[in-house]
Amino acid sequence: MKIIVATGNMNKLREMREILGSDNVTLTCLKDEGLENVEIIEDGKTFEENAIKKALTIAKVAGVPVLADDSGLVVDALGGEPGIYSARYLGRDTSYDYKNQYIIDKLAGLEGDERSARFVCACAVAWPDGKVITTEGVIEGQIGFEIKGENGFGYDPIFYLPERGMTTAEISAEDKNEISHRGRALTAMYEKLKQEGLVL
Ligand code: IMP
Repeated sequence: MKIIVATGNMNKLREMREILGSDNVTLTCLKDEGLENVEIIEDGKTFEENAIKKALTIAKVAGVPVLADDSGLVVDALGGEPGIYSARYLGRDTSYDYKNQYIIDKLAGLEGDERSARFVCACAVAWPDGKVITTEGVIEGQIGFEIKGENGFGYDPIFYLPERGMTTAEISAEDKNEISHRGRALTAMYEKLKQEGLVL
């Protein structure tokens, strides 16, 4: 079974392959399918709306079921920023070293629960006829006091897990996939796809 993933983000695709890929399920990306230039308008107001838009846009062009995710970092002390704008926050081409340090600086003086944050991931699978199923996953944490760790991507080096004493950039890929927002949303999606008979 081949599922197209509506993403150009190779880090996400890697995590999705680690979580969903098997002998029965092959995940391909937009570039593999020659669909990287299809315009996807991400103007939804929620992670779920954006995930549906991405999956549905590509499913209609490709004529097969398509999986998409929309995810981001929600920082309570910043009124939920960067949220659905996580990829575009402070400019799409701005380095994550800069974005991460900016968020740390904005939270100066805050301690413990005042630094609460979560990663959220909405997944959608859309069919060309317009049918859609969605799932959501969340992981709770805090914004760390410094940039730490080399694994993962994006905001991982500042996403601190108090119970582990580490950021999601310090834990292994395997551990991250087990507890992460994307891991949880994709595992729930896998169960729903099994019920649909799309995967074994
Ligand atoms: P999207 O591709 O529009 O869904 O944007 C997702 C953005 O949210 C990424 O580019 C990262 O900035 C951030 N993000 C989502 N998931 C993660 C994660 O697992 N670790 C770190 N940053 C993440």
